[in-house]
Amino acid sequence: MAESATTRPHWASRLGFVLAAAGSAVGLGNIWKFPYITGENGGGAFVLVYLGFILLIGLPIMMAEFLIGRHGQKDAVGSFIVLEGARSPWRFVGWAAVAASFLLLSFYAVVAGWSFDYIVKAATGAFSGRSAEEISALFGGLVSNPVKVIFWQLLFLATTCVIVLGGVRGGIERWSKILMPALFFLLLLLFVRGMFSPGAERALAFMFSPDFSALTPTSLLDALGHAFFTLSLGAGTMITYGSYLEKDVDLFPLALRITILDTMVALLAGLAIFSIVFAAGLEPGAGPGLVFQTIPIVFVGLPFGALLAVLFFVLLSFAALSSSISMLEVSVAYLIDEKGWTRLKSTVLLGAGAFLVGLPCALSFNTWSEVTILFGRNFFDAYDLLVSSYMLPLGGLLASIYAGWFWQEGEEKSELVGEVERPWLYPLWHFLVRYLAPVAVIMIILNQTGVLG
Ligand code: PFF
Repeated sequence: MAESATTRPHWASRLGFVLAAAGSAVGLGNIWKFPYITGENGGGAFVLVYLGFILLIGLPIMMAEFLIGRHGQKDAVGSFIVLEGARSPWRFVGWAAVAASFLLLSFYAVVAGWSFDYIVKAATGAFSGRSAEEISALFGGLVSNPVKVIFWQLLFLATTCVIVLGGVRGGIERWSKILMPALFFLLLLLFVRGMFSPGAERALAFMFSPDFSALTPTSLLDALGHAFFTLSLGAGTMITYGSYLEKDVDLFPLALRITILDTMVALLAGLAIFSIVFAAGLEPGAGPGLVFQTIPIVFVGLPFGALLAVLFFVLLSFAALSSSISMLEVSVAYLIDEKGWTRLKSTVLLGAGAFLVGLPCALSFNTWSEVTILFGRNFFDAYDLLVSSYMLPLGGLLASIYAGWFWQEGEEKSELVGEVERPWLYPLWHFLVRYLAPVAVIMIILNQTGVLG
């Protein structure tokens, strides 16, 4: 049965919403990507800039996206149509978000598939009795095997589809409630273990003592892109999740909680991983394989290490799933709300499409490793650059310009709720989405493309 506007599902509880949105935010971005790009960008200064972007740009834009979706009670395209009418050019912003989340899903499934493979590796004792170098080398063995990578990519997408088929409450909300706390607990354990290892001091220094000379225009863009990536902004996800919210929910404390949780997970993962890197004499700038090449090392030396390693990759896969379902939900909601398709048809077709579009990424480290597009990048890096550095920041930029400049005055304010207790909130938020966020995003993109010299 198609889900019509009158029967629109809503989150069963606020906690359910927070965990689902935090589940979207916390994912491979925190545990896989944040540590490796921090490593590539020299550590401390990058982390500081990233934290600044999260607070001053990410959080206000997250609020804007929630408000747009909650007001519209529709998918990303439909919410703009409700706000501005069916002919309004703002609906293109919704479409761009649908495209970004779809492209992102196709790329994300490849990396998440690696995590699936590592569950099996851990369960079959592939790490035990091996040296740090031998464990690191396993990663190259995996990504150079196209059949394996594609198998796991397919399995991951199929799992994503099954959860999305379960719908908002039964699928997304129910799973997030179980998985998120478990992941957090395990990360805490890894962090504590890391802090007692010989690499702890260097890890702390690497992440928190800034050397601003290490910052280039590209690292600014990386930090900005990652702030959007990690908070799931610019891809319609938070608009869509916001549309499943009841009208009377006071959003600010919820958005703040989601942002804090996401940031804590990234910092914990970064510290845990870098203490292993330094203790084992590995390279912080090792690139996309970093988490896979480091985390298993620490488990080898722990009691019940094999079991904990299995648990870690299970949870990493779950973190990836709670994010990938949010990506798929954006286009599924679009087809249900705007085209009247059933959830089943939308999910199956989009899942299959994401598999095909993602294939070149799966082949980037093997069969097509010599094939380059977009200034000498392989498909994997090109998709990542296009989505993370441009599509997400531009999507977020347009959402903030809409909320700051074009949304009928008063309407956004009343959508904010909870003004009475926090009279400072609206003026501050409005200033950030009207001026700071757009100016910063535009300047960073122009700076990178060389327009600002
Ligand atoms: N925030 C997710 C992560 O950090 O892994 C990735 C993501 C999910 C980005 C959903 C964008 C999105 F719409």
